[in-house]
Amino acid sequence: LVNSNTRFEAAEGKLSGSGVSASLRVVGDLAGIFLDEEARSRRDPREAVYEVVMHDACGAAEGGLFFGVSRVYPGKIGAEYFMTKGHFHSKRNRAEYYWGIAGEGLLLLMDESRQCRAERVSPGSLHFISGYTAHRLVNTGRSMLVVGACWPSDAGHDYDSIQRDGFGLRVLDVDGQPQLVPADG
Ligand code: PA5
Ligand code: NI
Repeated sequence: LVNSNTRFEAAEGKLSGSGVSASLRVVGDLAGIFLDEEARSRRDPREAVYEVVMHDACGAAEGGLFFGVSRVYPGKIGAEYFMTKGHFHSKRNRAEYYWGIAGEGLLLLMDESRQCRAERVSPGSLHFISGYTAHRLVNTGRSMLVVGACWPSDAGHDYDSIQRDGFGLRVLDVDGQPQLVPADG
């Protein structure tokens, strides 16, 4: 009988121990992601936008799972709330679960024909992301948005198609309220 030396404190979303690594995305990493690129380029490139902490128990081979926690900082670039880059999975049919741990936000979802929808993310909300569906987290609140995730370890991240074409919806602060605004056409 042994204790696992990896810990997940579910209430705060704190993941630690062996196999855990963290990566930080700063304003300087996010060129071309936000609507107001000019506003982004004037910001301190070292400013944190989000971080992902993940547990890798098995490597990226088929049949494995990864477990992670994303933390999106509160903030905006121009009128647009801080958000993740967003991606399709490289293996398009791979699905994923997200769940809300702390803070308030939106999960933007987009299928391959650019049909978009959004789900409200809050503590306790559960989100099934089907395959063939791009996903992006947006922090519409004033505190950290903390979201858990579990996904097949061979899914991979295809950032290029989002970098090129974006999402069909953006989330902007209009008179102090988050509004979904069509980005296409
Ligand atoms: O696997 C996921 O979908 C998440 O862990 C994301 O990678 C995380 O939210 C960061 O977003 P992105 O990978 O789009 O930068
Ligand atoms: Ni994913």
